[in-house]
Amino acid sequence: MGKLSVLLFVHSFSTIVNAGSGSHSLWALATYISGETPFPEFTVVVMLDDVQVTYYDSNMKHFIYKGHNTSDKIHDDEAKNGDFVFGVMYHHMKERYFHLKHHLNLTEGVQVQQRMAGCEMFDNGEPALIMTKNTFNAVFVDHAIYYNMTHFTYDAGKLLQGWDGMRQLQEKILYENVLLTLCIRTLKTILKREKNVMMRKVPPRLRLIKKEVSGGFQVSCLAFGFYPRHINLTLLRDGQPVAEQELTGGEVLPSGDRTYQLRKRLEVSTEELKKRHNYTCTASHLSLDNKLDVSWESGAERVHLSTLSVLLVMLLILILFSIFICVKRRWSNTASQSKLVNVDATVSEEMNLSSDSET
Ligand SMILES: *[C@@H]1O[C@H](CO)[C@@H](O)[C@H](O)[C@H]1NC(C)=O
Ligand SMILES: *[C@@H]1O[C@H](CO)[C@@H](O)[C@H](O)[C@H]1NC(C)=O
Ligand SMILES: *[C@@H]1O[C@H](CO)[C@@H](O)[C@H](O)[C@H]1NC(C)=O
Ligand SMILES: *[C@@H]1O[C@H](CO)[C@@H](O)[C@H](O)[C@H]1NC(C)=O
Ligand SMILES: *[C@@H]1O[C@H](CO)[C@@H](O)[C@H](O)[C@H]1NC(C)=O
Repeated sequence: MGKLSVLLFVHSFSTIVNAGSGSHSLWALATYISGETPFPEFTVVVMLDDVQVTYYDSNMKHFIYKGHNTSDKIHDDEAKNGDFVFGVMYHHMKERYFHLKHHLNLTEGVQVQQRMAGCEMFDNGEPALIMTKNTFNAVFVDHAIYYNMTHFTYDAGKLLQGWDGMRQLQEKILYENVLLTLCIRTLKTILKREKNVMMRKVPPRLRLIKKEVSGGFQVSCLAFGFYPRHINLTLLRDGQPVAEQELTGGEVLPSGDRTYQLRKRLEVSTEELKKRHNYTCTASHLSLDNKLDVSWESGAERVHLSTLSVLLVMLLILILFSIFICVKRRWSNTASQSKLVNVDATVSEEMNLSSDSET
Protein backbone atom coordinates (compact mmCIF):
# COMPACT_ATOMS: atom_id res chain seq x y z
CA MET A 1 0.00 0.00 0.00
CA GLY A 2 2.81 2.35 0.90
CA LYS A 3 4.58 1.23 -2.22
CA LEU A 4 3.27 4.00 -4.42
CA SER A 5 4.35 6.79 -2.14
CA VAL A 6 7.73 5.16 -1.75
CA LEU A 7 8.09 4.87 -5.49
CA LEU A 8 7.09 8.46 -6.06
CA PHE A 9 9.40 9.53 -3.35
CA VAL A 10 12.39 7.57 -4.56
CA HIS A 11 11.74 8.90 -8.01
CA SER A 12 11.60 12.50 -6.88
CA PHE A 13 14.93 12.13 -5.16
CA SER A 14 16.71 9.92 -7.64
CA THR A 15 18.33 12.81 -9.43
CA ILE A 16 19.74 14.18 -6.21
CA VAL A 17 20.91 10.80 -5.05
CA ASN A 18 23.04 10.43 -8.11
CA ALA A 19 24.47 13.90 -8.10
CA GLY A 20 27.18 13.32 -5.55
CA SER A 21 30.88 13.00 -6.10
CA GLY A 22 31.39 9.92 -3.97
CA SER A 23 31.36 6.44 -5.41
CA HIS A 24 29.06 4.92 -2.78
CA SER A 25 26.22 6.52 -0.94
CA LEU A 26 23.71 5.76 1.76
CA TRP A 27 20.55 7.82 1.79
CA ALA A 28 17.52 7.64 4.00
CA LEU A 29 14.52 9.02 2.15
CA ALA A 30 11.76 9.80 4.59
CA THR A 31 8.21 10.97 3.95
CA TYR A 32 5.85 12.38 6.50
CA ILE A 33 2.30 12.74 5.27
CA SER A 34 -0.41 14.49 7.21
CA GLY A 35 -4.06 14.31 6.32
CA GLU A 36 -6.23 11.48 5.15
CA THR A 37 -4.37 9.15 2.81
CA PRO A 38 -4.16 5.38 2.50
CA PHE A 39 -0.44 5.62 3.26
CA PRO A 40 1.29 5.31 6.60
CA GLU A 41 1.94 8.66 8.23
CA PHE A 42 5.68 8.14 8.05
CA THR A 43 7.80 5.95 5.78
CA VAL A 44 11.52 5.63 5.23
CA VAL A 45 13.45 3.76 2.61
CA VAL A 46 17.20 3.51 2.78
CA MET A 47 19.11 3.33 -0.45
CA LEU A 48 22.63 2.03 -0.75
CA ASP A 49 23.71 3.56 -4.05
CA ASP A 50 20.75 2.56 -6.18
CA VAL A 51 19.61 -0.46 -4.23
CA GLN A 52 16.96 -0.28 -1.57
CA VAL A 53 18.20 -1.87 1.64
CA THR A 54 15.61 -1.13 4.29
CA TYR A 55 12.03 -0.11 4.75
CA TYR A 56 10.39 1.35 7.83
CA ASP A 57 7.01 2.87 8.48
CA SER A 58 5.10 4.30 11.39
CA ASN A 59 2.61 1.43 11.42
CA MET A 60 5.24 -1.27 11.85
CA LYS A 61 7.68 0.73 13.97
CA HIS A 62 10.54 -1.60 13.06
CA PHE A 63 12.57 -1.82 9.90
CA ILE A 64 12.72 -4.58 7.33
CA TYR A 65 15.91 -5.46 5.60
CA LYS A 66 15.32 -5.28 1.86
CA GLY A 67 18.79 -6.01 0.55
CA HIS A 68 19.77 -9.05 -1.47
CA ASN A 69 21.94 -10.69 1.15
CA THR A 70 19.59 -12.09 3.73
CA SER A 71 21.86 -15.00 4.58
CA ASP A 72 23.46 -12.95 7.29
CA LYS A 73 20.98 -12.14 10.05
CA ILE A 74 20.68 -8.52 11.10
CA HIS A 75 22.17 -8.25 14.55
CA ASP A 76 19.84 -7.18 17.31
CA ASP A 77 21.84 -4.06 18.08
CA GLU A 78 21.81 -3.05 14.41
CA ALA A 79 18.08 -3.52 14.32
CA LYS A 80 17.65 -1.53 17.51
CA ASN A 81 19.86 1.26 16.19
CA GLY A 82 17.88 1.38 12.98
CA ASP A 83 14.55 1.46 14.77
CA PHE A 84 15.87 4.14 17.08
CA VAL A 85 17.19 6.37 14.29
CA PHE A 86 14.00 6.07 12.26
CA GLY A 87 11.91 6.64 15.36
CA VAL A 88 13.78 9.87 16.07
CA MET A 89 13.37 10.96 12.48
CA TYR A 90 9.64 10.30 12.68
CA HIS A 91 9.38 12.34 15.84
CA HIS A 92 11.39 15.23 14.37
CA MET A 93 9.38 15.38 11.21
CA LYS A 94 6.10 15.25 13.07
CA GLU A 95 7.22 18.06 15.32
CA ARG A 96 8.40 20.11 12.41
CA TYR A 97 5.08 19.59 10.73
CA PHE A 98 3.25 21.05 13.71
CA HIS A 99 5.49 24.10 13.63
CA LEU A 100 4.93 24.51 9.90
CA LYS A 101 1.20 24.04 10.24
CA HIS A 102 1.02 26.69 12.90
CA HIS A 103 3.36 29.08 11.14
CA LEU A 104 1.70 28.78 7.74
CA ASN A 105 -1.87 28.70 9.10
CA LEU A 106 -2.43 25.41 7.29
CA THR A 107 -5.92 24.09 7.32
CA GLU A 108 -6.70 20.41 7.05
CA GLY A 109 -5.60 18.68 3.88
CA VAL A 110 -2.76 16.55 2.69
CA GLN A 111 0.67 17.98 3.38
CA VAL A 112 3.87 16.18 2.51
CA GLN A 113 7.18 16.65 4.17
CA GLN A 114 10.22 14.88 2.80
CA ARG A 115 13.68 14.43 4.11
CA MET A 116 16.79 13.10 2.52
CA ALA A 117 19.63 12.34 4.87
CA GLY A 118 22.80 10.40 4.33
CA CYS A 119 26.40 10.32 3.29
CA GLU A 120 28.75 9.50 0.47
CA MET A 121 32.12 7.78 0.46
CA PHE A 122 34.98 7.60 -2.01
CA ASP A 123 36.29 4.32 -3.41
CA ASN A 124 39.20 4.38 -0.99
CA GLY A 125 36.81 4.40 1.97
CA GLU A 126 37.32 8.09 2.79
CA PRO A 127 34.15 10.03 3.62
CA ALA A 128 33.05 12.52 0.95
CA LEU A 129 30.04 14.29 2.38
CA ILE A 130 27.04 14.22 4.66
CA MET A 131 23.79 15.98 4.00
CA THR A 132 20.28 16.49 5.32
CA LYS A 133 17.72 18.21 3.23
CA ASN A 134 14.04 18.82 3.88
CA THR A 135 11.34 19.75 1.45
CA PHE A 136 7.78 20.73 2.13
CA ASN A 137 5.03 19.83 -0.33
CA ALA A 138 7.80 19.03 -2.80
CA VAL A 139 8.27 22.69 -3.60
CA PHE A 140 10.07 24.46 -0.82
CA VAL A 141 13.52 23.54 0.21
CA ASP A 142 13.13 23.85 3.88
CA HIS A 143 16.18 23.51 6.00
CA ALA A 144 19.34 21.91 4.66
CA ILE A 145 22.70 20.96 6.11
CA TYR A 146 25.69 20.01 4.08
CA TYR A 147 29.23 19.14 5.01
CA ASN A 148 31.87 17.91 2.56
CA MET A 149 35.04 17.76 4.66
CA THR A 150 36.02 21.33 3.83
CA HIS A 151 32.77 23.26 3.86
CA PHE A 152 29.82 23.31 6.20
CA THR A 153 26.69 24.98 4.93
CA TYR A 154 23.41 25.54 6.64
CA ASP A 155 20.33 26.79 4.87
CA ALA A 156 17.43 27.60 7.16
CA GLY A 157 15.01 27.73 4.28
CA LYS A 158 12.25 30.30 4.15
CA LEU A 159 9.51 28.56 6.07
CA LEU A 160 10.60 28.61 9.66
CA GLN A 161 12.97 30.74 11.64
CA GLY A 162 16.55 29.47 11.43
CA TRP A 163 18.96 28.46 14.16
CA ASP A 164 21.09 31.02 15.91
CA GLY A 165 24.90 30.98 15.73
CA MET A 166 25.32 28.87 18.85
CA ARG A 167 22.93 26.19 17.65
CA GLN A 168 24.60 26.15 14.23
CA LEU A 169 27.96 25.56 15.83
CA GLN A 170 26.57 22.68 17.86
CA GLU A 171 25.12 21.10 14.76
CA LYS A 172 28.35 21.57 12.84
CA ILE A 173 30.26 19.71 15.54
CA LEU A 174 27.63 17.00 15.65
CA TYR A 175 27.71 16.49 11.88
CA GLU A 176 31.47 16.58 11.53
CA ASN A 177 32.37 14.46 14.50
CA VAL A 178 29.51 12.11 15.15
CA LEU A 179 26.97 11.75 12.39
CA LEU A 180 29.42 11.51 9.51
CA THR A 181 31.40 8.73 11.19
CA LEU A 182 28.23 6.88 12.09
CA CYS A 183 26.80 7.15 8.61
CA ILE A 184 30.01 6.06 6.88
CA ARG A 185 30.35 3.11 9.24
CA THR A 186 26.81 1.99 8.45
CA LEU A 187 27.47 2.48 4.76
CA LYS A 188 30.54 0.23 4.97
CA THR A 189 28.67 -2.45 6.90
CA ILE A 190 25.85 -2.62 4.39
CA LEU A 191 28.25 -2.42 1.49
CA LYS A 192 30.07 -5.45 2.84
CA ARG A 193 26.82 -7.29 3.25
CA GLU A 194 25.72 -6.42 -0.26
CA LYS A 195 29.09 -6.84 -1.89
CA ASN A 196 27.84 -9.42 -4.40
CA VAL A 197 25.48 -6.86 -5.85
CA MET A 198 27.30 -3.60 -5.15
CA MET A 199 30.80 -4.65 -6.13
CA ARG A 200 29.78 -6.14 -9.45
CA LYS A 201 31.62 -4.88 -12.46
CA VAL A 202 29.78 -5.30 -15.71
CA PRO A 203 31.41 -3.68 -18.74
CA PRO A 204 29.37 -1.48 -21.05
CA ARG A 205 28.53 -2.34 -24.60
CA LEU A 206 28.76 0.49 -27.08
CA ARG A 207 26.86 1.48 -30.18
CA LEU A 208 27.21 4.41 -32.48
CA ILE A 209 23.87 4.95 -34.13
CA LYS A 210 23.00 7.18 -37.05
CA LYS A 211 19.36 8.02 -37.45
CA GLU A 212 17.52 10.28 -39.84
CA VAL A 213 15.48 12.98 -38.13
CA SER A 214 13.69 16.04 -39.48
CA GLY A 215 16.28 18.51 -40.65
CA GLY A 216 19.19 16.15 -40.73
CA PHE A 217 20.63 13.30 -38.80
CA GLN A 218 21.23 12.29 -35.27
CA VAL A 219 24.43 10.58 -34.34
CA SER A 220 24.08 8.97 -30.97
CA CYS A 221 26.48 7.26 -28.75
CA LEU A 222 24.90 4.57 -26.62
CA ALA A 223 26.49 2.68 -23.75
CA PHE A 224 24.37 0.01 -22.10
CA GLY A 225 24.42 -2.99 -19.81
CA PHE A 226 27.03 -1.58 -17.43
CA TYR A 227 27.42 -1.55 -13.66
CA PRO A 228 28.22 0.44 -11.54
CA ARG A 229 26.55 3.52 -12.89
CA HIS A 230 29.58 5.78 -13.12
CA ILE A 231 30.79 6.00 -16.67
CA ASN A 232 32.60 8.49 -18.85
CA LEU A 233 31.11 8.55 -22.28
CA THR A 234 32.55 10.90 -24.87
CA LEU A 235 31.68 11.56 -28.46
CA LEU A 236 34.68 12.60 -30.52
CA ARG A 237 34.66 14.22 -33.93
CA ASP A 238 37.96 13.76 -35.70
CA GLY A 239 39.59 12.93 -32.40
CA GLN A 240 38.25 16.04 -30.60
CA PRO A 241 35.55 15.72 -27.90
CA VAL A 242 32.27 17.29 -28.99
CA ALA A 243 31.30 20.02 -26.49
CA GLU A 244 28.65 18.94 -23.98
CA GLN A 245 26.42 21.87 -25.02
CA GLU A 246 26.11 20.38 -28.48
CA LEU A 247 24.89 17.11 -27.07
CA THR A 248 21.50 16.10 -25.76
CA GLY A 249 20.67 13.23 -23.46
CA GLY A 250 23.43 12.36 -21.08
CA GLU A 251 21.43 11.05 -18.16
CA VAL A 252 22.36 7.64 -16.83
CA LEU A 253 19.20 5.53 -16.69
CA PRO A 254 18.50 2.18 -15.08
CA SER A 255 17.79 -0.56 -17.61
CA GLY A 256 15.67 -2.56 -15.19
CA ASP A 257 18.07 -5.49 -15.03
CA ARG A 258 20.41 -3.91 -12.46
CA THR A 259 22.51 -2.38 -15.19
CA TYR A 260 22.54 1.12 -16.63
CA GLN A 261 22.45 2.85 -19.94
CA LEU A 262 23.53 6.23 -21.19
CA ARG A 263 22.90 7.90 -24.51
CA LYS A 264 24.37 11.10 -25.90
CA ARG A 265 22.99 12.54 -29.09
CA LEU A 266 24.39 14.97 -31.59
CA GLU A 267 22.31 16.66 -34.27
CA VAL A 268 24.12 16.73 -37.57
CA SER A 269 22.79 18.55 -40.62
CA THR A 270 22.61 16.70 -43.90
CA GLU A 271 25.28 19.06 -45.26
CA GLU A 272 27.58 18.29 -42.38
CA LEU A 273 27.06 14.60 -42.73
CA LYS A 274 28.26 14.70 -46.31
CA LYS A 275 31.61 15.96 -45.12
CA ARG A 276 34.20 13.47 -44.18
CA HIS A 277 34.36 13.23 -40.40
CA ASN A 278 35.41 10.51 -38.09
CA TYR A 279 32.91 10.10 -35.25
CA THR A 280 34.09 8.05 -32.31
CA CYS A 281 32.20 7.04 -29.23
CA THR A 282 34.49 6.24 -26.37
CA ALA A 283 33.75 4.98 -22.87
CA SER A 284 35.79 4.49 -19.76
CA HIS A 285 34.36 2.48 -16.92
CA LEU A 286 35.53 0.81 -13.74
CA SER A 287 35.16 -2.59 -15.39
CA LEU A 288 37.50 -1.71 -18.26
CA ASP A 289 41.27 -1.58 -18.25
CA ASN A 290 41.32 0.35 -21.48
CA LYS A 291 38.91 2.67 -23.14
CA LEU A 292 36.29 1.09 -25.30
CA ASP A 293 35.46 2.78 -28.57
CA VAL A 294 33.55 2.50 -31.80
CA SER A 295 34.10 4.73 -34.82
CA TRP A 296 32.18 5.65 -37.87
CA GLU A 297 33.17 7.82 -40.76
CA SER A 298 30.66 10.15 -42.33
CA GLY A 299 31.15 11.06 -45.96
CA ALA A 300 32.67 7.63 -46.41
CA GLU A 301 29.19 6.21 -46.21
CA ARG A 302 28.19 8.45 -49.08
CA VAL A 303 30.89 6.76 -51.14
CA HIS A 304 29.40 3.42 -50.21
CA LEU A 305 25.96 4.69 -51.05
CA SER A 306 27.01 6.05 -54.42
CA THR A 307 28.93 2.88 -55.19
CA LEU A 308 25.76 1.03 -54.43
CA SER A 309 23.67 3.30 -56.60
CA VAL A 310 26.11 2.98 -59.49
CA LEU A 311 25.76 -0.78 -59.20
CA LEU A 312 21.98 -0.48 -59.12
CA VAL A 313 21.92 1.78 -62.16
CA MET A 314 24.18 -0.64 -64.02
CA LEU A 315 21.93 -3.54 -63.13
CA LEU A 316 18.89 -1.58 -64.28
CA ILE A 317 20.57 -0.74 -67.57
CA LEU A 318 21.44 -4.40 -68.02
CA ILE A 319 17.83 -5.46 -67.41
CA LEU A 320 16.42 -2.78 -69.68
CA PHE A 321 18.93 -3.75 -72.32
CA SER A 322 18.01 -7.44 -72.21
CA ILE A 323 14.31 -6.53 -72.30
CA PHE A 324 14.99 -4.36 -75.28
CA ILE A 325 16.84 -7.19 -77.04
CA CYS A 326 14.07 -9.66 -76.28
CA VAL A 327 11.30 -7.35 -77.33
CA LYS A 328 13.15 -6.49 -80.47
CA ARG A 329 13.68 -10.16 -81.30
CA ARG A 330 10.06 -11.01 -80.66
CA TRP A 331 8.90 -7.92 -82.50
CA SER A 332 10.73 -8.98 -85.58
CA ASN A 333 9.23 -12.48 -85.27
CA THR A 334 5.66 -11.46 -84.67
CA ALA A 335 5.48 -8.08 -86.25
CA SER A 336 3.32 -9.36 -89.05
CA GLN A 337 0.85 -11.11 -86.68
CA SER A 338 -0.03 -8.42 -84.18
CA LYS A 339 0.21 -4.70 -84.03
CA LEU A 340 -0.76 -4.09 -80.43
CA VAL A 341 1.41 -5.86 -77.95
CA ASN A 342 1.11 -5.85 -74.22
CA VAL A 343 4.69 -5.19 -73.32
CA ASP A 344 4.50 -6.73 -69.87
CA ALA A 345 2.95 -9.91 -71.11
CA THR A 346 5.42 -10.08 -73.92
CA VAL A 347 8.31 -9.66 -71.63
CA SER A 348 7.21 -12.34 -69.23
CA GLU A 349 6.33 -14.67 -72.05
CA GLU A 350 9.59 -13.99 -73.73
CA MET A 351 11.48 -14.62 -70.54
CA ASN A 352 9.73 -17.93 -70.08
CA LEU A 353 10.61 -18.74 -73.60
CA SER A 354 14.19 -17.86 -73.22
CA SER A 355 14.51 -19.85 -70.01
CA ASP A 356 12.79 -22.77 -71.74
CA SER A 357 15.14 -22.62 -74.62
CA GLU A 358 18.10 -22.63 -72.29
CA THR A 359 17.05 -25.84 -70.59
C1 LIG B 1 -1.88 33.36 9.97
O1 LIG B 1 -3.01 33.93 10.58
C2 LIG B 1 -2.72 35.05 11.42
C3 LIG B 1 -3.99 35.52 12.06
O2 LIG B 1 -4.98 34.58 11.97
C4 LIG B 1 -2.06 36.15 10.62
O3 LIG B 1 -1.70 37.20 11.47
C5 LIG B 1 -0.82 35.61 9.95
O4 LIG B 1 -0.25 36.59 9.12
C6 LIG B 1 -1.16 34.40 9.12
N1 LIG B 1 0.06 33.85 8.59
C7 LIG B 1 0.20 33.50 7.33
C8 LIG B 1 1.54 32.95 6.93
O5 LIG B 1 -0.69 33.61 6.50
C1 LIG C 1 32.98 21.35 -0.78
O1 LIG C 1 32.00 22.26 -1.24
C2 LIG C 1 32.52 23.53 -1.59
C3 LIG C 1 31.34 24.44 -1.88
O2 LIG C 1 30.40 23.80 -2.66
C4 LIG C 1 33.48 23.38 -2.76
O3 LIG C 1 34.00 24.62 -3.13
C5 LIG C 1 34.60 22.44 -2.34
O4 LIG C 1 35.46 22.20 -3.43
C6 LIG C 1 34.04 21.13 -1.84
N1 LIG C 1 35.12 20.33 -1.32
C7 LIG C 1 35.31 19.06 -1.65
C8 LIG C 1 36.43 18.35 -0.98
O5 LIG C 1 34.57 18.49 -2.44
C1 LIG D 1 26.40 -11.52 3.33
O1 LIG D 1 26.96 -10.62 4.28
C2 LIG D 1 28.01 -11.10 5.10
C3 LIG D 1 28.52 -10.00 6.01
O2 LIG D 1 27.52 -9.21 6.45
C4 LIG D 1 29.17 -11.58 4.26
O3 LIG D 1 30.17 -12.16 5.09
C5 LIG D 1 28.68 -12.59 3.23
O4 LIG D 1 29.76 -12.93 2.37
C6 LIG D 1 27.55 -11.98 2.41
N1 LIG D 1 27.04 -12.96 1.47
C7 LIG D 1 27.00 -12.71 0.18
C8 LIG D 1 26.39 -13.79 -0.66
O5 LIG D 1 27.40 -11.68 -0.31
C1 LIG E 1 38.69 7.45 -36.06
O1 LIG E 1 39.30 7.92 -34.89
C2 LIG E 1 39.62 6.89 -33.97
C3 LIG E 1 40.17 7.54 -32.74
O2 LIG E 1 40.29 8.91 -32.85
C4 LIG E 1 40.60 5.92 -34.58
O3 LIG E 1 40.88 4.88 -33.66
C5 LIG E 1 39.98 5.33 -35.84
O4 LIG E 1 40.92 4.50 -36.47
C6 LIG E 1 39.56 6.45 -36.79
N1 LIG E 1 38.82 5.82 -37.86
C7 LIG E 1 38.97 6.17 -39.12
C8 LIG E 1 38.15 5.41 -40.09
O5 LIG E 1 39.74 7.05 -39.46
C1 LIG F 1 35.99 9.72 -15.58
O1 LIG F 1 36.88 10.79 -15.82
C2 LIG F 1 37.35 11.41 -14.62
C3 LIG F 1 38.19 12.60 -15.02
O2 LIG F 1 39.07 12.29 -16.04
C4 LIG F 1 38.13 10.38 -13.80
O3 LIG F 1 38.59 10.97 -12.62
C5 LIG F 1 37.21 9.22 -13.49
O4 LIG F 1 37.92 8.23 -12.80
C6 LIG F 1 36.61 8.65 -14.76
N1 LIG F 1 35.60 7.66 -14.40
C7 LIG F 1 35.58 6.43 -14.91
C8 LIG F 1 34.46 5.57 -14.47
O5 LIG F 1 36.39 6.05 -15.72
